[in-house]
Amino acid sequence: MNRVVVLGSANADLVVKVPRRPEAGETLLGSDLAVFAGGKGANQASAAARSGAETAFFARVGGDEHGAVIRSRLVDAGVDVDGIEVVDRPTGTALILLTPDGENSIVVSPGANHALDVGFAESTADRWSGADVLVLNLEAPLQTVEHAAVMAAERGIRVLLNAAPAEQLSADTLAVCDPLVVNEHEARLLLDDDGTSPFAELARRFIDRGVRSIIITLGAAGALYGDSDGVDLVAAFPVRVVDTTGAGDAFVGATACELARGRSLRASVEFATAVAALSVQTMGAQSSYPDRCDVDAWLVACPRRA
Ligand code: RIB
Repeated sequence: MNRVVVLGSANADLVVKVPRRPEAGETLLGSDLAVFAGGKGANQASAAARSGAETAFFARVGGDEHGAVIRSRLVDAGVDVDGIEVVDRPTGTALILLTPDGENSIVVSPGANHALDVGFAESTADRWSGADVLVLNLEAPLQTVEHAAVMAAERGIRVLLNAAPAEQLSADTLAVCDPLVVNEHEARLLLDDDGTSPFAELARRFIDRGVRSIIITLGAAGALYGDSDGVDLVAAFPVRVVDTTGAGDAFVGATACELARGRSLRASVEFATAVAALSVQTMGAQSSYPDRCDVDAWLVACPRRA
């Protein structure tokens, strides 16, 4: 079995390249607008499917063109989209400014993602059966995510919770995260850290708070992973960065796929860092995700970790 279920957000990403971030009150001229399929949930589902998992996505979109495009891109990636419902809200949109270093600033208008209520999670839970891993992130309402996490654990489904954007989680939710996935900023924010603690210490603090396992992604520095047996680092691949949008989601989806295949946390993180490294070399989120065969070929052909 290698079955991943993702419950979460779907957005249209409206991307403009800018020479730098504008100051308050300043108008900047940027590139032509580019529209991509995005949203952390949809991205994670796309990455899991392209990595080889049988993947089902549960989400809500509007009855507009953005919703139709998102559905169609996910079908292209091999995702089961029967769990996407159309509601009377606009599809979520993300306004993304992309600077020459490949970094981005994002504002999300949640739209239909805000209609991902507890009732939606409950009404879809029977269709998660047979899943090895449920993937959640915090672009869906917190209450829904926490409820879904506990429901999944009760059904014997492993929970991968990506706490992005960061919000404090209840002890009950932390207790079922296996793993909790955060980036460096989210880690410091959730632990109320002043920016001085080493990341290995932060990882141990998450474990002390009750998570079964933890991954802290560190961009070009790789990813820390660990559980009560210890914490270790997987180095990243040095690559030329074009656009980091959705790289974290590529990592999450690929990790979920590998965990669903029964691979170890370390082996999953190793594969996921390769997927993320490939994803930053092309524009867009889902549009940059490699198929598994491309990842395997790339790993054979070239790279050394940093
Ligand atoms: O993580 C990247 C995603 O965040 C983008 O695709 C955008 O939609 C925002 O949700």
